[in-house]
Amino acid sequence: MKHKLIICNWKLNGNKNFIKKYIKYLIKNYFILNLFKLSIAPPIIYIDYISKLIKNYNITLTVQNIDKHIQGAYTGEISIKMIKDFNIKYIILGHSEQIKYHNETLKDIFKKIILLQKYNFVPIICIGENYNEYKNKLSIKTCKKQINYLFKNNNIINNKNIILAYEPIWAINSKNNNKSNLLNIKHITKIIKFIKNYLNKINYNKNIKIIYGGSVNTDNINILINIKNISGLLIGTASWNIKNFIFLLKSIKLK
Ligand code: PGA
Repeated sequence: MKHKLIICNWKLNGNKNFIKKYIKYLIKNYFILNLFKLSIAPPIIYIDYISKLIKNYNITLTVQNIDKHIQGAYTGEISIKMIKDFNIKYIILGHSEQIKYHNETLKDIFKKIILLQKYNFVPIICIGENYNEYKNKLSIKTCKKQINYLFKNNNIINNKNIILAYEPIWAINSKNNNKSNLLNIKHITKIIKFIKNYLNKINYNKNIKIIYGGSVNTDNINILINIKNISGLLIGTASWNIKNFIFLLKSIKLK
């Protein structure tokens, strides 16, 4: 990946007015975006609207989730086949908020990875330990278990288009979850190194790109983006205010 990937995860935020202003400001600062591969992950209902606004620019679109079924009686869900109708590059799978609020399991995520391979989308597969596991020094064990479950027995060995997002749950939205206001960068670096080595060792897929997500902000972005083997960042809260977000991107100094 020549340029680092920056995914803006809007989560459950935005409306047409917000989007109009956001994209206008983004495009005004377009020169900064040439330094990165930027992808916006809006609520799915706005995908078509945004794709028209960004059509002349090198910005891609990401979907926050899809259903594990392709069609049928699944009220409220979105199918990968429908996503095919739009110009979408990445799909986030296994985000901890899906696990927490919608009881998503590793088995569900595994099924979705297979679907994405079949329909040719790039999955951004989230893994990471929760706060208790982190405190009890079980981070490596947890990540190992998740990697084994998600990457064993599926045919992704040669697929170059796989992104793994290390998103320690305790670090996500840390300002509001009272767990930690300061990221433990040493720990994050250690786990990323472990993930890289482990993927190489077990030979599941040496081409998997690793990105990091969880409370990225102006204080930590330069350390996080420059961690060895990091191909990009998944940014939630800090991407919601476009002026602050551009300021954040401008503050990046790549080593
Ligand atoms: P955050 O979210 O940047 O608000 O911590 C990251 C994420 O949930 O992907």
